[in-house]
Amino acid sequence: MTPPATRPLVAGNWKMHKGPREASVFCDAFAAALEAEPAGSADLLLFPSAVALGAVARHPIVERVGVGAQTVHPEPSGAFTGELSAEMAVDAGATWALAGHSERRHVFGESDADVAARVRACLRAGLRPMVCVGETLEERRRGHLEGVLRRQLEAVLPPLDDTAADAWAIAYEPVWAIGTGETASPDDAREAHLLLRRVLGDHGRAVPRILYGGSVKPDNAGELLATEAVDGVLVGGASLDPASFRAIAGASDPR
Ligand code: 13P
Repeated sequence: MTPPATRPLVAGNWKMHKGPREASVFCDAFAAALEAEPAGSADLLLFPSAVALGAVARHPIVERVGVGAQTVHPEPSGAFTGELSAEMAVDAGATWALAGHSERRHVFGESDADVAARVRACLRAGLRPMVCVGETLEERRRGHLEGVLRRQLEAVLPPLDDTAADAWAIAYEPVWAIGTGETASPDDAREAHLLLRRVLGDHGRAVPRILYGGSVKPDNAGELLATEAVDGVLVGGASLDPASFRAIAGASDPR
């Protein structure tokens, strides 16, 4: 496994887009785009919808691209209609899962404790969790950036006690920059990423890769990926198109 922070990690979160057929069409086109122009230096990862996990995991593209679930339920199985367990995600071919994406926190009401329970479920099943943290505009305006990031990160540290730094990741996604076209400036991203590193240091933890997410596009990805302490990007809307995701994946390559 690649040691943390040596290769950037470029991940796409498809949210509630693309069923299995559309996912296969994307994978065919993305594989062709990589064949034409390989994105050499980045590790690549996709988070398809639950129903499309298998289609991506069975596509030959998995030789180059990892696959993850967008969320998992804390329990391994049971009477939880509509939910996906970490074990089922593994069965479908996932090796990663997002935990605590801002839409899970703010639309579905997941608390810090809920996110920690999902991280625990990932580790139980052998999935690598990518823990998402980020402040709302209101929290930022009130000067609560540090408090919010510290609280969200510290909530997941106990389950990650014995987890190596390359077996999980953090995504810093300021809520005000998600799907809005507003991107955090490189200075904003650097400040938040250094703050997260400091929190990890306070707890004597090794630092996993810390990705930036929020309106990452082909034209700003290079600058963000070149920013100090930014080890990758988590891309929403721009990961839905094979050409734009390919452009972002290659944005860290030397020209
Ligand atoms: P956008 O790139 O569409 O802003 O989404 C970011 C995100 O939420 C990725 O998880």
